[in-house]
Amino acid sequence: MSEETYRNAKASIEDRVTDLLSRMTVEEKVGQMVQVRNAAEEHDSGVRAGHIGSCIIASGPFAGNERDEGVHIRRLTRLQKIAVEESRLGIPLIYARDVIHGYRTVFPIPLGQAATWNPELVRQGAEIAAREASSTGIHWTFTPMVEVGRDPRWGRIAEGFGEDPYLASRLTSAAVEGYQGDDMSQPDRLAACVKHYAGYSVPEGGREYNTVELGERTLRDVYLPPFKAAAKAGVATVMSSFNEIDGVPVSADRYLLTEVLKEEWDWDGFIISDYGIIATMCGAFGVAADLREAAAMCANAGLDMDMCASAYSQHLVSLVEDGTVSEAQVNSMVGRILRIKFRCGLFEHPYADENRAKKVILAPQHRAVARKAACESMVLLKNTGILPLASEGGTVLVTGPLARARGELYGTWNLDGQPGDVISIGEALTKKLGEDREVHLDNPAGMGGLSRILARQAEMVVACLGEGPWLSGEGNSIASLELPAGQLELVEALHELGKPVIAVVCAGRPLAIGRLCELADAVIYAWHPGVEAGQAVADVLLGTTNPGGRTPVTFPRSAGQVPTHYAHKPIHNDAWFGSDRANHYRDQLATPLFPFGFGLDYTSYRYTNLRISPERASMDGSVSISVDVENVGSRTGSEVAQLYVRDVLATVTRPLKELKAFEKIALKAGEKKTVTFTLSGGDLTYTGRDMRPTVEPGEFKVWVGPNAAEGIEGTFELAG
Ligand code: GLC
Repeated sequence: MSEETYRNAKASIEDRVTDLLSRMTVEEKVGQMVQVRNAAEEHDSGVRAGHIGSCIIASGPFAGNERDEGVHIRRLTRLQKIAVEESRLGIPLIYARDVIHGYRTVFPIPLGQAATWNPELVRQGAEIAAREASSTGIHWTFTPMVEVGRDPRWGRIAEGFGEDPYLASRLTSAAVEGYQGDDMSQPDRLAACVKHYAGYSVPEGGREYNTVELGERTLRDVYLPPFKAAAKAGVATVMSSFNEIDGVPVSADRYLLTEVLKEEWDWDGFIISDYGIIATMCGAFGVAADLREAAAMCANAGLDMDMCASAYSQHLVSLVEDGTVSEAQVNSMVGRILRIKFRCGLFEHPYADENRAKKVILAPQHRAVARKAACESMVLLKNTGILPLASEGGTVLVTGPLARARGELYGTWNLDGQPGDVISIGEALTKKLGEDREVHLDNPAGMGGLSRILARQAEMVVACLGEGPWLSGEGNSIASLELPAGQLELVEALHELGKPVIAVVCAGRPLAIGRLCELADAVIYAWHPGVEAGQAVADVLLGTTNPGGRTPVTFPRSAGQVPTHYAHKPIHNDAWFGSDRANHYRDQLATPLFPFGFGLDYTSYRYTNLRISPERASMDGSVSISVDVENVGSRTGSEVAQLYVRDVLATVTRPLKELKAFEKIALKAGEKKTVTFTLSGGDLTYTGRDMRPTVEPGEFKVWVGPNAAEGIEGTFELAG
């Protein structure tokens, strides 16, 4: 290989990796496997010696719940210059940050983005986040979080794409494409990191970090698909999770990290641990006697980079020297890290351009996309006809604890969005509706003395309810899914005054809002809508745009029925007493308050004319499933046509329904379109008794409709 191939941008990445590895000492190799916190001067000597490969720019292990001092491009450039110009081999640092749902232009929380059922919009949001964050010197983001979320008690359900593996997979692929583009070396792209691999979203009791009991078949068929989709989409990195499964810590599990992710899926990126988890092996988990043993077990499992546990930096060199960890294993792991650094173009452009940030951050066109995403994320759960609000009429009172909220509407994991960039719901309605109608914005206490007078005078009330970001995200699980204290009482009082109530609920999870839905005349579920929150709520309430959302997660009636989701399995005796009883509680129905995929609109749709062809297909053939969808209302709208399938006879129990396709279609009033889905054997594959991918001949039921609980039913057969 010619002199310094690794510095030659025209050489192949694999040649550059091979050449660079051949030049590195064991200390320098291990250095690439070390991530430290922030680009601080304390790291100068380590960087100069080649003992540090990456920095996470964060406040600490709980970055999602804290505000830090932000990203200072000159600090990053200062330390990068030491790496590039003063270290022996000049390997650039890769800078990471949790840019979870936008950088300064903050988008709806990922659960809200999932409610758009719009992969292209998710892609655009990721692309904008990459454009803004990369302009400050960040190369790598720890997102998308792709765990399938079926337990609303768990605070991090807010960070994922909902309860269904197919929807989550589609949106994961879109997000990875948005962050990385088709050429990650472009300066306005970020390396993505799907997390948290794996099984982290099913902690016992919905309590953060709790133990996970999960069979391999459920793990493979429900929780791994979005990670596999990301691997297929070429995601640069994966973050291993905090949890154990059935007693085995995932971050030290060679089967999941190496045999499945790297080998079975043939994935060539690298794995970073979650924050400090290697130390937990010899700490809380008690599976390693000391940090040295913890480092050995994680390195031998295939965990490529240590986030801030100082395990690899302290012990890995000596572990290689005594043969506990082979140099071949280290070469394989470091090779993956170097490959991603080359793909990011770090050797060609290690320094950020200070002038670019000013042009891209919070650009108007970015805000416009964020506004579109917020509008499309909002789910209309109830409407007696009061919405959209008429521009003429009596006084409107805007009240409730979130009426004046700004920064709270970013939701969890907002590190760089500024509260001052947000217009509150109350301000936006006062400004927009106030052009034609009198609008009163209540005091933050809500239903204080003044409000009763205003409430009596008002023709109707907009109640801004829900939860703040402190009930969402990491370490913020809750036991009750009721609205926070005092909010239902506020609506009860307004109801007693005989005032029509339009409830706008901002939350990071599906709350148990059954009573609210009885009392209110309309309910808009806005999740945490991001930087354009106020304007988007006003757009939707006034009908400037329709609420475009469909529930990405089942709404339970209470925490007592959690976990709850649509894809449940057939059970013994579900015909006993009729299927509406055996599976219920004596004190509550077990059916959802709102099913997966549900959402009303300002118009309505009709499904007719289901056609399936052929009705009997060969095992290697495909089946076309078509339906006509008509807008039978008076306004243009967009409908999400959803295809569900049931494998009627299989060697293991199969869900009663599984989402296999969807299409969001715009329809003018009176317009009818045909939606066609194509299914093949690959779509019907599941993990069989032998734990192998399996598809079997037999009957399949299909439903095409507006949500998991409704649809036109048909069947087809796969011929053995
Ligand atoms: C946190 C989170 C993870 C995040 C990482 C870095 O503990 O679990 O999602 O990316 O640490 O902040």
